[in-house]
Amino acid sequence: MTGSISMAVENSANPLLAGLEPERQVEPLSFVIFGANGDLTKRKLIPAVYALFMQGLLPRSFVLLGTSRTHFSHEKFRNAMKEALLKFASDLPFTEESWQRFASSLYYQAADSGTETGFEDIKKTLSALDEKHGTNGRHVFYLSTSPSLYLPIIKGLGKSGLVVKTRVNEPAYPRVVIEKPFGHDLASSLNLDEQIHEVLREHQIYRIDHYLGKETVQNIMVFRFANAIFEPLWNRNHIDHIQVTNAETLGVEGRGAYYEEAGALRDMMQNHLMQLMALVLMEPPIAMDAESTRDEKNKVLKSLRPLTAATIDENAVRGQYGPGFILGSQVPGYRQEPSVADSSQTATFAALKLSVDNWRWSGVPIYVRTGKRLAKSITEVAVVFKDPPHRLFENPDKHGQTHIPGNVLVMQIQPDEGISLKFATKQPGPNTTVRWLNMDFKYGSAFGTRTPTAYERLILDCLHGDPSLFARSDFVEASWKYIQPIIEHWENNALDFPNYAAGSWGPAASDALLARTGHTWRRL
Ligand code: BG6
Repeated sequence: MTGSISMAVENSANPLLAGLEPERQVEPLSFVIFGANGDLTKRKLIPAVYALFMQGLLPRSFVLLGTSRTHFSHEKFRNAMKEALLKFASDLPFTEESWQRFASSLYYQAADSGTETGFEDIKKTLSALDEKHGTNGRHVFYLSTSPSLYLPIIKGLGKSGLVVKTRVNEPAYPRVVIEKPFGHDLASSLNLDEQIHEVLREHQIYRIDHYLGKETVQNIMVFRFANAIFEPLWNRNHIDHIQVTNAETLGVEGRGAYYEEAGALRDMMQNHLMQLMALVLMEPPIAMDAESTRDEKNKVLKSLRPLTAATIDENAVRGQYGPGFILGSQVPGYRQEPSVADSSQTATFAALKLSVDNWRWSGVPIYVRTGKRLAKSITEVAVVFKDPPHRLFENPDKHGQTHIPGNVLVMQIQPDEGISLKFATKQPGPNTTVRWLNMDFKYGSAFGTRTPTAYERLILDCLHGDPSLFARSDFVEASWKYIQPIIEHWENNALDFPNYAAGSWGPAASDALLARTGHTWRRL
């Protein structure tokens, strides 16, 4: 028996490491990371794999082979990963002894993914490792590189014979995990998909959307479909509108060059927020298998009313932050960030009003906003219910307004993960004064365990060959189809930027978007 199993026993009492189901055992395999010297590997992948190791969730025999163009010895790679772990995963238990056991699975092979010899080198090293660790040709390749390398790497893997198409009913090794962004627009994403499918079948492709790995996002399905009391209300008869907010106080954090090409629509809306909305709006799947769930999510995207050049300005708002204050500190505007053009037209804020043309949601506006350098970091889905049909209680609030807000169910994705339901209650006293209170559930106090990171869950699922929480080809395409006209319309029509101050809630047009239908964004 290897170290990982004994660690599992050793650590089973550690509340920090509870969370994932330990009985799920993966067969021995090699996990190859392209871009092993990059930021994502250090910040997210290595901490996630180490956390899985500490929970005994890695296979008995496991190899992690890092590769990139930089020359490293195995030892130097291990040291760099150790440093990364200590820096980015200080919440994980770490001892020299546990590290040594983990590090004995780490290897490195320098390779230029632009050359055939690069792949031959990887192949030789992998087959030696297969021999040594009994991983038996079971390989998972993780592309944590710049998107421009996805195709060259997948083609190189195909040419070298490291990946081959499997039959649908065969266990899907090799598997390839691809980071976002998947394409730059509709055309490039279709092209990428077509070329990848020349080398791999769909069930071998794992397109990461880290939002799907978040516990709070997965809980949307459980909340909706494991409880019988909410679903009867989850429709146009009872819901007035839905607001999805993804707000970050951070700016572009040194990623100006990437962000200039991306902007808010490509960076957050086309992927993370579309996935989030699909989970909120979808019909119940017939079963909890990967295809049934992903079929239902796709139907949501197919029901979105497409925006056209004539309707975009009415339903889509963009913004770019100027200088301002975040938590009392002065911060520069987007155009002053490194690698950003002085006259950049890139949107750092986007808000959309979506109309869903189906039986359940007809006439219910779905508002979604995302932005950098906003007043607060928070991601939530707020479901706003309709007012009671007849008003019996008309108490003025502290502003003298007599309107009583309706019930609101908030799924707080992050931070302070939880769910709250706002409801009316009588304030104790001689008068019938209505007060609005929240019934709250917080993950932290309810479970008291460490929440696994999104990458932990997604990597584990991929090792198990479960693609449920990965984006399927047709979803990516449908999502690009919806977003593409907006991207083009914005590219063709410049706006006077910046139009919101860092530390605010975005441009005035964002409020006007809701005001047209008599709504206001929640004050967060
Ligand atoms: C990434 C985007 O995909 O998601 C970033 O590229 C964004 O710009 C990040 O900040 C948000 O992720 P999270 O998990 O911090 O909400």
